[in-house]
Amino acid sequence: MKYDFDQIVDRSNTNALKRDGWREYIFGDPEGKKQFNFKDEEFIHMWVADMEFKCADEIIDAIHKRVDHGIFGYTTVYNDDYPNAFAKWCKDRYDFEFNKEELCYSPGIIPALYELVGDICAPDEKVLFQTPSYGFFKHASTYNGREMVFNKMKYNAGEWELDFDELEKQCADPKTPLLVWCNPHNPTGRIWTDDELKRVAEIVEKNDMYIISDEIHCDMRRAGTSHTPMGKIMKDYPKLVTSMSASKCFNMAGLQLSNILIRDPELRQKFKDGDKLVGFLNPLSITAMQAAYEEGGQWLQEMNDYVDANFAYIKEFFDKNLPEMEFKIPDSTYLAWVNFGAVLPAGTDVNEFFANEAGVLIEGGDALFVDNAEGFVRLNLAMPKSQIEIAMQRMYDAIEKAGGRK
Ligand SMILES: Cc1ncc(COP(=O)(O)O)c(C=O)c1O
Repeated sequence: MKYDFDQIVDRSNTNALKRDGWREYIFGDPEGKKQFNFKDEEFIHMWVADMEFKCADEIIDAIHKRVDHGIFGYTTVYNDDYPNAFAKWCKDRYDFEFNKEELCYSPGIIPALYELVGDICAPDEKVLFQTPSYGFFKHASTYNGREMVFNKMKYNAGEWELDFDELEKQCADPKTPLLVWCNPHNPTGRIWTDDELKRVAEIVEKNDMYIISDEIHCDMRRAGTSHTPMGKIMKDYPKLVTSMSASKCFNMAGLQLSNILIRDPELRQKFKDGDKLVGFLNPLSITAMQAAYEEGGQWLQEMNDYVDANFAYIKEFFDKNLPEMEFKIPDSTYLAWVNFGAVLPAGTDVNEFFANEAGVLIEGGDALFVDNAEGFVRLNLAMPKSQIEIAMQRMYDAIEKAGGRK
């Protein structure tokens, strides 16, 4: 291994959401009034989806070089270097090509979603997405005052499936013009099969809907899996928007740059007109993302291998100690979606329970994953294995102590 993923990096005093923002984000308590049994420095942070790993040296070096230039004036993408790097990544990794004119930028996939939901849905129209769901699909809808329709996924013995019968009916409603589609899916980690993708595409096309395919997790996969962009399935469908970024899988969400491929020229113009940053981007972000696409391949491979080993470790732990949870390693993401509902008393507030009883910060349940998520917890495994070992033991002890095993 060229890179060291065992290193524990202290994130205190870096204004990191993960280290310092959890009281507000998880418990709605920005002033820190709520008391916990653990001190701040004792918590293990398995919540929000960023990593405890340092960025690739290649990215850090590229940023240093750009910093040394010394001028950070108004910036956007004028030459072809960045679009070419991203296009080559898509072609090499997923054999996916797009027209460069479709490529728009945003500080994040979420800000883009906030804009697009309002652009696509009239005030009396609804936004459809699968649940359990990444929380911001809901927040983007409520921000715009749009009603939501939940397509509840079906859970059976560790496997999550789409409910196509329900999806057919929900898409047939002319007041629901938009499907927000998570490919691969956060939080379940499902990589959809090509057959599933084709069925979704058929339903969307039949009903002439817009689809926003959020593919931010697509480079974080278990060995042997592959990613199919929705843009390959819906080859010429004009109402497809694809969101991708190197931010998530290279651990640079704070640099805030994402790629939004918008095929429909009218929607694209509306999106650009609605950009409150009037097109400007952070110069360091462009440099960093370009370095990731051009030079980050080996780091990504090693990081995926490291996370695969973390998944294998927790799989063994759960199978041995808590087999009732029927844990299955997900196809994608560095997030384990685990059914603690199987081993805790019904109605347990999982976020509070694990914070207080185990000193482990996690996200779980409907409060953070919108709907269809009760009893489930998302564990972030993009961290040194030594930390995961401590967290797993503490969580297990807390469950035993609570006498909660059914
Ligand atoms: C499915 C999904 N979309 C988007 C985001 C965040 O995107 P961004 O940081 O580009 O706004 C996340 C972060 O966890 C995510 O899981």
